[in-house]
Amino acid sequence: MSVERMLDSYGNMVQNKLKSLLSHDDCLYSDVIKAMEYSTLLGGKRIRPALLLEFHKICGGKVEDALPFACALEMIHTYSLIHDDLPCMDNDDMRRGKPSCHVAFGEDIALLAGDGLLTASFSVCLKTQNISSDLVVRCAAILSDFAGVDGMIGGQVIDLKSEKKSIDLDTLNQMYSLKTGALLKAAASIGCTLAGADKEKINAALKYAESIGFAFQIVDDILDKTSDAATLGKPIGSDDANQKSTYVSLLGIESAVATVDDLTQKAKLSLSAFNIDTSDLADLADYLSNRKF
Ligand code: IPE
Ligand code: IPE
Ligand code: MG
Ligand code: MG
Ligand code: MG
Repeated sequence: MSVERMLDSYGNMVQNKLKSLLSHDDCLYSDVIKAMEYSTLLGGKRIRPALLLEFHKICGGKVEDALPFACALEMIHTYSLIHDDLPCMDNDDMRRGKPSCHVAFGEDIALLAGDGLLTASFSVCLKTQNISSDLVVRCAAILSDFAGVDGMIGGQVIDLKSEKKSIDLDTLNQMYSLKTGALLKAAASIGCTLAGADKEKINAALKYAESIGFAFQIVDDILDKTSDAATLGKPIGSDDANQKSTYVSLLGIESAVATVDDLTQKAKLSLSAFNIDTSDLADLADYLSNRKF
């Protein structure tokens, strides 16, 4: 299957499920529900859920069974984007091709919409059917760990603390591994674990996700410099405006592009631990390294 078709097919499944999970009767607090729907349902490449579902599939799982976790992960990712755009963080007024959540709904509701998505994500994944409760609880803990202070949140803190100063490569590596790598590792690890995969496969999936996660953030930094807002669906020049420390600001575009290629090769090599056809995941790594948005 082509990568586009794979992303389309998983994306549609995730979209329909998210729609039903977020739907809510009118009530006195409908504002926050509208904001959650707005940010979650109107765009996004759905890379993390696709990765989770694909790893689940190649480990022998039934894709529908992993759908709640795929949606829970996308809800956490969406919350991280809503908060990332707030004036106290990156102060960006466009996301997924539309005004950012705080621009459309106000900072107070945007903050609470992020909190609402984060909280709901655990309710969603803990209600997973057809998978043993032991595996469900294990995967909820994996999700929490990768999203939390030793994962995505920690990386966001390093990112904020590194504004307006020069940092070393070790700090940058840790920032990328956490702020972007962590949720991709959650996808890989949960996809495999829910399907009952052994440690060797989970570790290989984690290595793949670490490499593509790092490459993903470097590409994001390159696009912030070289793309345009209409293509990207978010403002360009945000990193310079905030005086962010990025791979591009530290090492330049040429080195950044070469590193993306190296990491993509490395990701593909990690797939050899699976004794099954992993060409869709190899193609996904290539696709992400060449993405334009
Ligand atoms: C944006 O992630 C934030 C980063 C980690 C670079 P995506 O590029 O996956 O954003 P969406 O989900 O497609 O909007
Ligand atoms: C990743 O970094 C953000 C998250 C972990 C949410 P960026 O701040 O560069 O992401 P974009 O460019 O705003 O999507
Ligand atoms: Mg940021
Ligand atoms: Mg940002
Ligand atoms: Mg960026």
